[in-house]
Amino acid sequence: MKETVTEILFPKEAIGRRVRELAGQISRDYEGREPLIVGILNGAFIFMADLIRALNVPCRVDFVRLSSYGAGSVSSGEILIGKDLEMPILGCDVLIVEDIVDTGLTLSRLVEILRKRQPASLKVCALLDKQERRRVPFTADYVGFFIPDRFVVGYGLDYNEKFRFLPDVCVLETSSEREDI
Ligand code: IMP
Repeated sequence: MKETVTEILFPKEAIGRRVRELAGQISRDYEGREPLIVGILNGAFIFMADLIRALNVPCRVDFVRLSSYGAGSVSSGEILIGKDLEMPILGCDVLIVEDIVDTGLTLSRLVEILRKRQPASLKVCALLDKQERRRVPFTADYVGFFIPDRFVVGYGLDYNEKFRFLPDVCVLETSSEREDI
């Protein structure tokens, strides 16, 4: 499989501006409180690091790692927690941070799981949202950019664990052509 980065969708400067705007909005909404920011590994780590450093409210951080049950690249909807939170969230203001909402299956299931632990509030912030790909209804509370149905990498997002390090969000095209030809 040959993978080619074909286009920069959001350059790092535009991402930086939007992350600061989101942080401003979140800081106003959580004024006087100390939210627990929950990052979904691995994709959210760069976005979350930038976001929390632009907040004007104190926060704590924790992480979850999720996996979908079953093989294949198509999400089955059965989400398992691979690495759970280290902290109890009972009575906490929890803000989940995710790289991208696609079918909505991952976040709707995670929200369902975490709600049972009775946080004081539970919201979701996603850098990117591919709304037209939804298989279940899901609306994030904060969204960086709505994007069309294209596969993107960079700024933490990967393809087979590659391309996370790219500073911009880029479009990735794959073709069945062999790389070594
Ligand atoms: P959902 O359950 O379909 O909403 O899955 C969301 C997850 O799919 C994200 O956390 C990403 O890991 C992955 N994903 C969906 N679209 C993309 C993309 O364009 N680039 C990289 N990862 C993606």
